[in-house]
Amino acid sequence: MKKRINIAIDGPSGVGKTVMSTMLAKKLEYKFLSSGSFYRVIAYNAILNNIDLENEQAVNDAWHIEDLHVTEDDKIIFKNEDVTLKIREDNISRGASSIAKFPSVREKVNKFIQTFGAKYKGIIVDGRDATYRILPDAEVKFFLWATPEVRAMRRVKQDHEMGIESKYEDVLESMKIRDYNDMNRAVDPLKVSEGSIEIDTSDMSIDENFEAMYQEVLKRL
Ligand code: DC
Repeated sequence: MKKRINIAIDGPSGVGKTVMSTMLAKKLEYKFLSSGSFYRVIAYNAILNNIDLENEQAVNDAWHIEDLHVTEDDKIIFKNEDVTLKIREDNISRGASSIAKFPSVREKVNKFIQTFGAKYKGIIVDGRDATYRILPDAEVKFFLWATPEVRAMRRVKQDHEMGIESKYEDVLESMKIRDYNDMNRAVDPLKVSEGSIEIDTSDMSIDENFEAMYQEVLKRL
């Protein structure tokens, strides 16, 4: 039997971390957790309860680790509600990027992921600090990159395919704001951490991107 390893993937919004993680998880039969989805849940909860997104204590006091569950089939349950789809909405993306700067929120999210993840060997976690904070001992670490222009273009195309007409300029602007927030915050910003394999996906197809990552994983199995 092949040995099982842990995989951490960091990169900016819209670079394809979740798509790649999902493909790898399927191929390897590993569990995948997207750490960003938990920041989204916290933002969703704060917005739903009219909590000021700049008030760290109020945002963090409004949720408990016990409120959060990930099912076997990867649904995210929060306070007994399936929020898997709701947290993908645009205002939640912006809110998540904002509340992710709070150390107390990050500490609690990381505790949830690490406790959950300890049950598995063969876990894939994506995020902004997955390679150096959430899974510092992961056997394979990736930093995925693509220019904001390429990421915005991909998002507009993806939206179009889902019947949503989004404007390139707006998507690009929002991408740049999130990049700025994620890379410049004081606590655990997005960066290329030591030991991470950098992959610039700007000119790669999904299959090429997957293959590049899969070959790196195979070297460690
Ligand atoms: O990956 P995502 O777009 O679902 O993440 C939502 C937000 O959460 C994103 O703006 C950055 C933040 N985030 C973070 O600060 N740390 C992580 N490990 C994952 C996400």
